[in-house]
Amino acid sequence: MDKKLFAEHIALLRSRYDAILDQCGFDTLNVYSGRPKVQFLDDNNYPFKVNPQFKALVPVTDNPHSWVIYRRGQKPKLLFYRPVDFWHYVPPAPQTFWSDEYEIELLSKPDEAKPFLHADNAAFIGETDGLEDWPLGETNPEQLISRLHWARAYKTPYEMACLRDANRIAVGAHRAAEDAFRSGASEFEINLAYLKAAGQGENRMPYGNIVGLNDHGSILHYTHLSDKRIPEAQLRSFLIDAGADSHGYCADITRSYAYRDGEFADLVAAMDIMQQQLVGQMKVDLPYPDLHRDCHLKVADILKRFDLIKSSPESAVESGLTGTFMPHGLGHFLGLQVHDVGGHQSGPEGGTNPPPADSPFLRTTRTIEAEQVFTVEPGLYFIDSLLGDLKDSGLAGEVHWDKVEELRPFGGVRIEDNVIVHADRVENMTRDCYAES
Ligand code: GLY
Ligand code: MN
Ligand code: MN
Repeated sequence: MDKKLFAEHIALLRSRYDAILDQCGFDTLNVYSGRPKVQFLDDNNYPFKVNPQFKALVPVTDNPHSWVIYRRGQKPKLLFYRPVDFWHYVPPAPQTFWSDEYEIELLSKPDEAKPFLHADNAAFIGETDGLEDWPLGETNPEQLISRLHWARAYKTPYEMACLRDANRIAVGAHRAAEDAFRSGASEFEINLAYLKAAGQGENRMPYGNIVGLNDHGSILHYTHLSDKRIPEAQLRSFLIDAGADSHGYCADITRSYAYRDGEFADLVAAMDIMQQQLVGQMKVDLPYPDLHRDCHLKVADILKRFDLIKSSPESAVESGLTGTFMPHGLGHFLGLQVHDVGGHQSGPEGGTNPPPADSPFLRTTRTIEAEQVFTVEPGLYFIDSLLGDLKDSGLAGEVHWDKVEELRPFGGVRIEDNVIVHADRVENMTRDCYAES
């Protein structure tokens, strides 16, 4: 990554943090990376997941017992843990594109951080386990966290570069996964092909990879990874939702495939066109829930065109019929976390804009602004439990059940891209990576 780009990023971040600390009445911010957690009645640790507010300040994702001490107006201090340890990997002292921007102290024991901390006019962000008698300052102040979350929605050029890089890695891995699917691999084998092409292990993935053959595509967060190969005659479809990491930033991409030509292949193609129309509609000042509602109209239109429902698109949305086929939200903020923070916030100081009553899982209720990054991920699924509810409801007569039964064994379709909205244009990072690779 480019050193100058990072220097500009940290300069902007510092001005944001200075203003926010001032607004909240703090001089110092102590941010802890976290500590390893031991599994219950065991001596193995859970995979380490860094405090996202730590990686927001420094691109370090794999080092517990480390700290950023940020004093208003000063170069941030990084307390970087480097124990003498013959059991575990110890990272080298940082000497990379970002290291000049920090005053770095090396810790050989976790307790060596303590003398660097003070509680006067200080706030602490992190988990407090094991730090009970430490001078941390006010722990996780709500207003401070709200303001930091709000600010994270506006990505800097360095952050955009990381998100593009995460997309580049993930797109290469998606291509490898499609090849594995077409050669008859099991879900488990497809996932291995994905990870190998990404060059990242599963603990580095931003979320558990969703790799579903045939009707498994209808299980929204299916992470089971069956090791069974499906005989070619029974192979119908494939849905994969998998990302990648670049310096702590996430990709979150979904692709859906038909194994052979036919109605399901046509459905995938129709959803692909519709998804790109939605991306094309994104612009500054558009409330994201309006786009979500338009997505439901477009899903209804496809349901009608494929003869799955009898209602007009407008009445299928009004009645809630489309909710059976697309029960999740259209998308969410993306950044250091896959479901990035602040999507329901009504202002920098806090407050909540809840999702509409008919779309409880919509994760973004904000109005789109420049430099924000979203996923756009319409879906259309044949989900047993929701279809069962529909069959028992007053809307049952609006459905062509024979057509539903024909498509049910294919699971469903989701197509998900990662998009930057700029002041004057929309950048689809995911499609750009497909076009370039
Ligand atoms: N991969 C989870 C999601 O798309 O939100
Ligand atoms: Mn996803
Ligand atoms: Mn997503």
